Formats: sequence, structure tokens, C-alpha cells
Amino acid sequence: MDVVVNGEPRRFEAGGSGRLLELLREEFGLTGTKFGCESRSCGACTVLIGDRATLACAVEPASVAGGRVTTIEGLADGPAALHVVQQAFLDEQVGQCGWCTPAQVLTAVALLREVADPGVDLIRERLSAVLCRCGTYQRAFAAVTRAAAVLAGQGEAE
Ligand code: FES
Repeated sequence: MDVVVNGEPRRFEAGGSGRLLELLREEFGLTGTKFGCESRSCGACTVLIGDRATLACAVEPASVAGGRVTTIEGLADGPAALHVVQQAFLDEQVGQCGWCTPAQVLTAVALLREVADPGVDLIRERLSAVLCRCGTYQRAFAAVTRAAAVLAGQGEAE
């Protein structure tokens, strides 16, 4: 079966027992997608399927056949420049242990593609789906607000 991952066509065997999470990490080597609870509770495995934030531990690989998956490794346009949301997370110093950061970033990207100016309540609601044991929530909320402003051309990343 075929899928486009981070802009590149990839092929995988149909009928495997694993989930998309295992396919990405173990077959494709994309370990930026984190293994947390594997029971749809922690959000650490969040990737984009199309533009939608999705738990990779909850998805059969066959369901993404013919589709488009983005992991944290494929978010930026190239190695020289971070995505606006990644830069905002860096500027707000969100990362602590970093385990949940890829999922937070991808969740934020999905939100900002859906709602250009989401407001703090919606940001809080969406990012709360990704559990952070370091308690970086307030900084993450600030980073998404910053990224929204940058994307809207209303602010500058400092
Ligand atoms: Fe998928 Fe926790 S590993 S939700």
C-alpha cells in the first residue's frame, strides 16, 4: 500500500498487526512521533493525517493508504527554517523533557489550519489533548497565540 509521508511516497505491507504509530517509528524510522500510553489517552503519538491531528496509536495503517501523513520531521519546509509554530514554541521556551512537544506542535498546526485566530479557550481545549508531565501548558498556549499572530501578519517573532 502507498502513503505520502512528509511529502515523500512510502510503501508498506497491507495486513500488518501494528498501528500507524509502529509503522512510522519502526518501519519508517520517524521516531519524533512518540510512544506514550498506546491507549488513546496521552496524545503523545499525534500526527497529521491530511490536516487533521490524529492519534497514530489509534489508526490502522491501511486507513492512511492513498493519503498524506505529516510527522514532526516533515513539518518545516527544510532544515534551514523551522515552521512558524516550531519557532513560536522555541521562542516561548515550551520544551522541557520534549516528549510531548512534537504532538503539541502538530496539534497546534492542525488548530491554526482550521481556525486562524482561535483564542485562548480553544487553544487550551485542543492542546489539553496532549498530556505534558512537565506542565508546559501555559507556555504552549502562549506559543500558539504567538504563532497565530505571526501567521496573521500581526506580530513578529522576537
Ligand atoms: Fe497514542 Fe498515548 S500513545 S494516545
